[in-house]
Amino acid sequence: MAQHIAIFDTTLRDGEQSPGCSLTYPEKIEIAHQLARLGVDVIEAGFPISSPGDFQAVQTIARQVKGPTITGLGRAVEKDIDAVWEAVKDAEKKQIHIVLSVSDIHIERKLKKTRAEVLQQGIRAVQYAKRYCDEVEYSPEDAGRADPEYLYETIHEMIKAGATVINIPDTTGYVLPQEWGELIANVFKFVPNANDATISVHCHNDLGNAVANSIAAVMNGARRIECTINGIGERAGNASLEEIVMTIKKRLHAYGYETGVDSTQLVQTSRLVSTLMSMPVQANKAVVGANAFAHASGIHQDGVLKDRLNYEIMTPEEVGWVESNIVLTARSGRHAFQHRLEKLGFVLTGKDLDKAWERFLDVADKKKEVGDLDLEAIVSDEMRIAHEAIRLQAVNINTAFPNGMPTASVRLVNADGQEMTESAIGTGPVDATYKAINKVVGVPNKLTEYTVQSVTEGIDAVANVTIRVESQNEQFIGRGADTDILIASAQAYVNALNKIVASRKDLRAKAPAGV
Ligand code: KIV
Ligand code: ZN
Repeated sequence: MAQHIAIFDTTLRDGEQSPGCSLTYPEKIEIAHQLARLGVDVIEAGFPISSPGDFQAVQTIARQVKGPTITGLGRAVEKDIDAVWEAVKDAEKKQIHIVLSVSDIHIERKLKKTRAEVLQQGIRAVQYAKRYCDEVEYSPEDAGRADPEYLYETIHEMIKAGATVINIPDTTGYVLPQEWGELIANVFKFVPNANDATISVHCHNDLGNAVANSIAAVMNGARRIECTINGIGERAGNASLEEIVMTIKKRLHAYGYETGVDSTQLVQTSRLVSTLMSMPVQANKAVVGANAFAHASGIHQDGVLKDRLNYEIMTPEEVGWVESNIVLTARSGRHAFQHRLEKLGFVLTGKDLDKAWERFLDVADKKKEVGDLDLEAIVSDEMRIAHEAIRLQAVNINTAFPNGMPTASVRLVNADGQEMTESAIGTGPVDATYKAINKVVGVPNKLTEYTVQSVTEGIDAVANVTIRVESQNEQFIGRGADTDILIASAQAYVNALNKIVASRKDLRAKAPAGV
């Protein structure tokens, strides 16, 4: 019988710690439902003590999402563990996840304690969590740079105290695959009770080794992998879930390993996370990047036409890609539109479908032929807008050359339906628009990055605008898509401001240091 490798998804916790990637409450719930459809074993839904909003999101996910185990992270202190338990206790399957450093660098420089004190703190925390919950996971933070002897002792003691999962993190993405494989093998060799718990790994990608390290760990006895959709996470991110799942499916199957993930849901999940986090996926990203199955050179194209096996080790369909040579026009009809969206992984109904249809007709009017990439851009944009409390209702921009004075008027509407109109003059049309929007929203911020990318070729292409703004030392990414780059720019700014407003409402405390 195949050996199951559990997939622990931490997109909503470690992933959400990526700079600029914060999510609103409904966005977190939507992603959690999609993760359940994807078939992950565990969802780490957040860090309940970090903010009331995070607590509420974890609690709602625990109450609504069936199938996976729901967990939340806490430091090895009672108030964090209480918060995790309160948030996850109503889940069908639940777990408390505790983190405490194990490397001397962290113990001395961050915690300013001794090894013995940290060990005792960990034992007390596990025993405390055990009073609430049967499933307790313990993560010795920065294990990748720790003294192995002290790590083995820690693992031994935490399992004795009741931990059911030991998750060994390479917090700084420092180790090499061979070293990591050996360390995991040594855990089984030198920790007498290692087989009484599930050994898991959590690898960061600072040197680009996160997936390779996770796979090396599986080959040496780990039975659970922590990872994120699109590999997002602190700094350079975590191991990418889609790459791990496909590596296990394509290569580790021969060694008798499998996951419970439905690989045909990977592209859709990647797209949802990328859209809601406003975090584009690089085109050459394995499995889910736009070029992952694109063959450019003549030799390759010829080879693929003769037999795909010549250059493809997996099919686009098995990871959820659909053929992309179909175009829709305004005469295609709503049914064909909905069907195409479903093929692209967007399941929309009711008002969401109505809105997307209206938007499609608008673009089809201007563009005549609407391909999959256009559809993806405009529907993703609609999905983003659907979650926004403040919406752009109208914008009027004037500019002239030479000697023009760019001006913009905007009308925004808030969640209570209240309309607000403002105008401004700027150095250019985008500047004028952003100034007018700022007058309405009134949230101090600084634009630090602005990029426009056309989705397809041609003068009538849909443009994706991605911006980054800074507010109170936090970064927020905004995205907008339209055939008019000025409107896309306005949408992107409103998107980013919505995120700032949502995070202020959430009274988002910074994640406690070291996590
Ligand atoms: O990187 C890390 O060490 C973590 C732990 C909480 C597992 O994110
Ligand atoms: Zn991490």
